[in-house]
Amino acid sequence: MLLGGKGKNLWITPPFFVDYGSNIYFGNNCEVNMNCTFLDDNIIRIGDNALIAPNVQIYTAFHPTNAFDRFGEPKEDGSFEFCKTRTAPVTIGDHVWIGGGAIILPGVTIGHNVMIGAGSVVTGDIPDNTIAYGNPCRVRRENRSDTLQKEDRESCLQE
Ligand SMILES: CC(C)(COP(=O)(O)OP(=O)(O)OC[C@H]1O[C@@H](n2cnc3c(N)ncnc32)[C@H](O)[C@@H]1OP(=O)(O)O)[C@@H](O)C(=O)NCCC(=O)NCCS
Repeated sequence: MLLGGKGKNLWITPPFFVDYGSNIYFGNNCEVNMNCTFLDDNIIRIGDNALIAPNVQIYTAFHPTNAFDRFGEPKEDGSFEFCKTRTAPVTIGDHVWIGGGAIILPGVTIGHNVMIGAGSVVTGDIPDNTIAYGNPCRVRRENRSDTLQKEDRESCLQE
């Protein structure tokens, strides 16, 4: 598949569903597990060391919520124009783990060192160094390292 760009070491387990593929950019050392769907009608940019679990969906497209705005007036033969579509990019930082079945909505930015819980619907931006989950997805706590001292962690994140 033609991606927009990728760094070293990208592992994607099929099936992997996209609209174009060419609007998706990966950093280094990224894994996408099976059955993910990325609607890349706008840019989807994923940083280094991403772990994306099965069934994650990233959407960049959206439509007017009202049917009349979405389709306009019906034509004489009763048919409609194809629905109006708008797009907004999705940006995911470095060192992010997206849990299984999470849905990320258009325009969302997820920071560095973030864990998004399984099944979350991410409706807004998520700041660096947090664990967030739920529907709607909310920050629940700081994402602390159990194994690294603070200084080591900061230098690790700057690599
Ligand atoms: C987010 C996550 C890491 C939190 O794990 P944790 O820190 O051990 O959290 P806990 O299990 O102690 O749960 C704490 C509370 O949050 C709730 N919770 C945890 N994960 C949740 C989620 N994804 N959505 C909604 N609520 C969640 C729990 O029900 C619990 O609520 P309670 O205190 O009312 O009982 C984990 O639940 C998760 O989503 N892991 C993803 C696993 C996955 O996708 N694996 C695929 C392979 S990559």
